[in-house]
Amino acid sequence: MPDFQNWALAHQHRFESVLHELLPSADLAPQRLHAAMRYSVLDGGKRVRPLLVFAAGELACAAAAPLDIAAAAVELIHAYSLAHDDMPCMDNDVLRRGKPTCHVEYDEATALLVGDALQSLAFQLLSAHPLCADPARQLRMVKLLAAASGSRGMAGGQAIDLASVGQQLTLPELESMHIRKTGALIRASVLLGAQCSPDDACETLDEAALDRLDHYGKCIGLAFQVMDDVLDTEADTATLGKTAGKDADDNKPTYVTLLGVADAKRMAEDLHQDALESLSGFGDDARRLRELAGFIVHRKYENPSPSRGGLGWGWVR
Ligand code: IPE
Ligand code: IPE
Ligand code: MG
Ligand code: MG
Ligand code: MG
Repeated sequence: MPDFQNWALAHQHRFESVLHELLPSADLAPQRLHAAMRYSVLDGGKRVRPLLVFAAGELACAAAAPLDIAAAAVELIHAYSLAHDDMPCMDNDVLRRGKPTCHVEYDEATALLVGDALQSLAFQLLSAHPLCADPARQLRMVKLLAAASGSRGMAGGQAIDLASVGQQLTLPELESMHIRKTGALIRASVLLGAQCSPDDACETLDEAALDRLDHYGKCIGLAFQVMDDVLDTEADTATLGKTAGKDADDNKPTYVTLLGVADAKRMAEDLHQDALESLSGFGDDARRLRELAGFIVHRKYENPSPSRGGLGWGWVR
């Protein structure tokens, strides 16, 4: 198995136990809410955002413990966004990560509360655990995730997505939507991992280096959603672990409707190259970030799950 896949699989499996420990036990009251939170987070998903935290953290010489917390915070926000995205008032989806969506397995009120509680838990983790020696930097990390999740980030992008049903967006409008709804959290993952660096151990990450990493995150965040749009039209439901063809059924503007599949893929490839260029000053320490960029653009998107032993390592080409 290629070295990158070994690295990613090892992190994915280890991180599953981290999440297992950090989520409230389903024995604790209110049991049904806690069971639904665990259902929505555990045993599924590619864990791309946590892997970006780990990869940026490696570059920044960060220790494992703060990276696990930062990665968990981002993944909990992501899982919350999926539970809400699938609800009838949004995309009305019945399948997620190869399982019934949260509101189908439980009920709508529970899915709403799962999102609320996962979001709170994310910020509880990020503020309660020491992530770096400088409290001011830790506060900036909390602010970073809040901004990426809020009305100028993920939630704002979701609002634009819902308001755009049936409309023809321009390329800049579509880019602005995708950068927010998906890109913001991916971009934050890279910066959070980098900011876990110990104060003295790593000299590579000055302001200019952080700016280059931020540009990398921006490019792959947008590329991720471009490929999500492509896969929605190209892959089947079993491969995706979510309903294929949903964007067209719902009349959503996507990169595929605007550019067609071939140009959408070309655009993702251009973003990939742009992301790689912004890492050019980093040398071999950034190899996991380079490999993750390749995975994001070339993934085949099998539905991954630790309990099934495979974590989505198919490649489009
Ligand atoms: C799906 O994200 C929703 C988008 C932001 C496009 P992922 O493709 O990362 O979903 P999981 O976490 O692997 O299930
Ligand atoms: C969802 O985008 C983005 C967020 C959840 C923030 P999509 O609606 O395209 O995601 P999927 O395709 O349902 O995973
Ligand atoms: Mg959606
Ligand atoms: Mg959706
Ligand atoms: Mg989609």
